[in-house]
Amino acid sequence: MTMRIVILAVICLSLASCKPKEKESSAPEKIASTEKAVKLIKTATEVPSTAEKLYTVVDGDKVDNNTLNGWRTWRALACERCHGAQQEGLVGPSLVNSLKVLSKDDFKKTVLNGRMEKGMPNFGGSKQVIDNIDYLYAYLKGRSDGNIKPGRLQAIEQ
Ligand code: HEC
Repeated sequence: MTMRIVILAVICLSLASCKPKEKESSAPEKIASTEKAVKLIKTATEVPSTAEKLYTVVDGDKVDNNTLNGWRTWRALACERCHGAQQEGLVGPSLVNSLKVLSKDDFKKTVLNGRMEKGMPNFGGSKQVIDNIDYLYAYLKGRSDGNIKPGRLQAIEQ
């Protein structure tokens, strides 16, 4: 009987130590309510699939409809004013470089919450951005990967 308890205790202990650590947050100034919004958006838009393709591109300038909407969102919100028409940076950093290291979560947080004190506005008030945040990410990732050309895009012909 005591043996069993000891074994149980050992199992509990090892389980506890295996528990993944809480992800450390990089931005201490995160606002709780906006965080909640980001979570909501995530659950609303993220498909439970595992390795789904972010974007599909043909000839560098023909993309799937979602990615096309990402590009349209980029154009509509005029991100190019600060990040450059080719996303290579202006007053804001090059997103071609940024998206090689920035996680999707951090991308969403930055775009939705902004980094006001550093000159990056928040776009969490734009329905177009909220609805298309995954596709905006997909488009910029495609640019960063070098698979999508800068400039005008069109839909892949069906
Ligand atoms: C008024 C200028 C301005 C506009 C418009 C703007 N940004 Fe920014 N953005 C910045 C600045 C400045 C930074 C750098 C902030 C910093 O130093 O952390 C930045 C940072 C970012 C980052 C983080 C880059 C990194 O390496 O951490 C992303 C992603 C980003 N912007 C995306 C966008 C998108 C998408 C849009 C359009 C919806 C947009 N930005 C519109 C100025 C702007």
